[in-house]
Formats: sequence, C-alpha cells, structure tokens
Amino acid sequence: MGSHCHGCKLWVVFLVLVMMKGATAAGGLAANWGTQSTHPLPANIVVKLLKENGFDKVKLFEADPPALKALGNSGIQVMVGIPNELLGPLSSSVQAAIDWVQQNVSNYISQMGVNIRHVAVGNEPFLKTYNDKFVHTTFPALKNIQAALIKAGLGRQVKVTIPLNADVYQSDNGLPSGGSFRPDIHDLMVSIIKFLSESNSPLTFNIYPFLSLYADSHFPKEYAYFDGNAAPLVDGSISYTNVFDANFDTLVAALDKIGFSSMPVIVGEVGWPTDGDLNANVDNAKRFNQGLVDRILQGRGTPRRSTPPDVYIFSLIDEDAKSIDPGNFERHWGVFNFDGALKYQLNLGSGRGLVPAKGVRYLTRQWCVLSPQASLDDPALASSVSYACSYSDCTSLGSGSSCGVLDARGNASYAFNMYFQTMNQRKGTCSFSNNLSMITTLDPSAGACRFKVMIDIGKHQLPPARSSSTGRKLKFVLSVTAIVMLLVSGA
Ligand SMILES: *[C@@H]1O[C@H](CO)[C@@H](O)[C@H](O)[C@H]1NC(C)=O
Ligand SMILES: *[C@@H]1O[C@H](CO)[C@@H](O)[C@H](O)[C@H]1NC(C)=O
Ligand SMILES: *[C@@H]1O[C@H](CO)[C@@H](O)[C@H](O)[C@H]1NC(C)=O
Repeated sequence: MGSHCHGCKLWVVFLVLVMMKGATAAGGLAANWGTQSTHPLPANIVVKLLKENGFDKVKLFEADPPALKALGNSGIQVMVGIPNELLGPLSSSVQAAIDWVQQNVSNYISQMGVNIRHVAVGNEPFLKTYNDKFVHTTFPALKNIQAALIKAGLGRQVKVTIPLNADVYQSDNGLPSGGSFRPDIHDLMVSIIKFLSESNSPLTFNIYPFLSLYADSHFPKEYAYFDGNAAPLVDGSISYTNVFDANFDTLVAALDKIGFSSMPVIVGEVGWPTDGDLNANVDNAKRFNQGLVDRILQGRGTPRRSTPPDVYIFSLIDEDAKSIDPGNFERHWGVFNFDGALKYQLNLGSGRGLVPAKGVRYLTRQWCVLSPQASLDDPALASSVSYACSYSDCTSLGSGSSCGVLDARGNASYAFNMYFQTMNQRKGTCSFSNNLSMITTLDPSAGACRFKVMIDIGKHQLPPARSSSTGRKLKFVLSVTAIVMLLVSGA
C-alpha cells in the first residue's frame, strides 16, 4: 500500500478488523487430509470441500503432488508432512534436506502458489511402539530441514515442527500439574524444544480422547467429551471436566517445568471415528466433534493456557487403505465419508452447517451380493468371504460396528460387495466360487449399514497434473488384481 496516504492506515485497521471478524465467522477450521484410500476423492473436489466448510488450514502427511497442486492459489495454509521413513536419509545429509525442500516445498510455493506454512518432520516418531526406531534421526532431520528452509529463503514463512504423540509426556502425580516429559526422551525433548523456540517454530501434539477410552474399559466415558457430566478431576484450584483439557495442560505443565511456558503448541490431530468399534459411531463422533468445533469457534483455551491452540481435526475424509494395526476404527476418522458425503451434521456457527462434496462421480449403482440360491453350508463360502475381505475393507462388519448386526448372509454380501467395488466393479470380480454371488441393482443398505458404491476414479476428469498419483493408485489396484488372478489360477 502507498506510504504517503494517512487515511490508509485507518482503512487498514478497519479492514483488518473486518477480516478478523470474517475469519471468525467463516470458521477458521483446520483439518488433516490423508490420502491412503483405494478410491481417493479427486484433489480439486477436496479443496472445494475444505473451502466451502470454512477450513483455512490443512495438514498433509506427505508432499502429495495432486493435493499440493490442487491447493495452489487456494489461500489455504498448508502443513506438509515428512514420513518417518525419510527421517534417516534426511538426518544424514544436509543436501538431502535441501533437495527435499526444493522439490516438495519451494517449487510448490513459487510455481503453484501453494501457501505452505509448516513442514512436519516425521509423524509421531517417538511413539513407544516404535521402540526408539526414530529417536536418533528425528532431531538431526529437523535441523537439516530448518537449514534447508533458511537456505531457500523460506525461514520466515515456513516453520518446522514435529507432530508428536501425547505419550511423550506423562504425569508424575496423576494430575495435569504433575506433567513432565517421558524420562527416556526427556533431554532430547528439551533440546528439540529449545531449537524450535529459537527458530520461532511451534510444537505439535496429537491428542486422542477416543484412544483413552478405547485403551481402557474403565475410562469414564463422559470425561472423553467436552460437554460430559463426569465427576471433575480436581487439580489444586482447577477442576477438569474433560480429558482433552487435562491432557493438554499436562503438556503445558511439562513445558513450564523446563522453562518454556510460552512455547506455541499446535494440536496436530484430534477427532473421533464413526465405525469399527463399540464407541466409534456417528452419535459419539458428532458429540465430540461438535464440542471441539464449538471451542475452536469460541477461541477457548485450557485452564492453564487461555490462548487457544490451532487444532487440526482428524480427519477430513475416511481412508480405506490405512493400516488397521491400531484397530478397525482407523479407517473411519473422517468427518466426511471417503466420497465427501456427510456422515452427520455439525453446527459451524452463524447458522452454518457442513456441506458435502460436489461433483463426485460414482461407478454404476449396482452391488455384488450373496446369491439367494447359495447355501450357507457351501464349503467355499467362508474362504470366499475371507478372500474378499483380504482385498477390501470389511472393518464395518465387526461386532459393535455399523454392519455388525448383519446375519451370515448379509455378512457375505457385504464382503462380496466391498471386493467388487474396490476392484472397480470390473468384469469377473463378482463371481465367487460356483455362483455364490450375483449383481443386483437394489441397494442392500439397511439402517446404519451402508453398502458402498465406489467413486469412479477413471471417469473423473483428471487434469494432467494428477497423472503420476493416479498412475500409482492404478498400479496398486492392478497389482492387487494380478495377485488375485494368480491366486485364482493357482487354486
Ligand atoms: C520430495 O523430494 C525428494 C527429493 O529429495 C523426492 O525424492 C521425493 O519423492 C519428494 N516427494 C515426497 C512426497 O517426499
Ligand atoms: C460377520 O463377519 C464378521 C467379520 O468377518 C465376523 O466377526 C462375524 O462373526 C460374522 N457374523 C456372522 C453372523 O457370520
Ligand atoms: C450358475 O447359474 C447359472 C444361471 O443361474 C446356471 O446356468 C449355471 O449352471 C450355474 N452354475 C453352477 C456351477 O451352479
């Protein structure tokens, strides 16, 4: 703006105020966008979904080219992740970090107008279950990436961080005030925090009330929610009524203890799944996420830290190719379905609600089901079902899940259909054993149990930019098909 215009200053102040108000009204939400799906929603549709629902920040788990390209000139602030597997190479060479930043950050900023603001180095690298696998490479990789960002002239715009699991801190007395970093990585955490602080970079932590509940059947359910009526946890003058506040403040106390009370903190992941466990359903997810969104929109912090952290909801959409090592719920964290359809409504303030994705193209409206003539005593039935489920997502079939009430016939139909859809309804993918299955145009869905029709990943108009990723996904599906055909011909 012109430097000789005095009235301008007032205008700027006024505009900033209007914009701030606008930002609050528009939501200012942040979400994780994971892409481990057999049928990923096209990136341009996801970006529209983000914008129309007031998400102005997004976190990617890797520098996914289609996602980054689609985010170009969208204005959405982006946190780009570096997978743990790259920590080793990036820790051992500054040049590797320089190349990584050049290809996956600088190019997208300068050539495509992607508003990259953070690089997330690793993902929960100090998780106890990794048995120290990434303990020696994470900090050196962080330092190399930071050096590379400075070298690229991005030191101010792009901040480094490490998304950590909340298990890097604990409480010495069972109360938030007793918070301290885990003894085995205490000194490492202090060094990392000192480094981040010196480079004006934030800490990032993932906090999962759902997992607290999942891990411990005695966990007081109401304490998991923001509006719960659990007996409060009294810690000195503070009464905690939800585990999110207590967990976050345990971290704040741990930071106080090492002299970094004002260290900025981002909540990198928090959310609630809708399927795959007794406590994972639409009602619970809606209740938790509505409470979460309310406090984000109100700008509410925690008892020990009144300034609210940036909170990235986990997750935007479901991912049916995620590992289910953590549990069957792992593929169902989306606020939206895999196709951007609504699972439940949320009040986003000012009378606004969630809006579903638009322009999604599907495969033909048809399903593969167990043939009415097929007998439950058919000796090939069990193996056909387990075969179908080994190549597709049957996590909705478990007890307490959305299709857990199906009888044996319904079960088989569900499995056959998931296989058929995952294989893009290709010819021959609805023919299990001797006429066990058939195609129907009557939707077998009932109640909460939905029989999917997949997105047509071939029919979407794919801009040339998407070809590399599409190629990868197709290769994945093709190689699965190849294995399937090998198995079938071998059997
Ligand atoms: C990022 O850059 C490196 C070059 O260092 C490259 O090998 C890698 O494939 C790029 N993409 C991702 C997603 O990391
Ligand atoms: C349905 O399938 C699930 C998962 O494969 C299994 O646990 C359950 O016992 C099956 N139910 C019936 C009635 O066959
Ligand atoms: C399968 O069904 C078709 C048509 O319903 C029938 O013609 C065929 O003989 C059946 N095959 C077997 C092996 O049962």
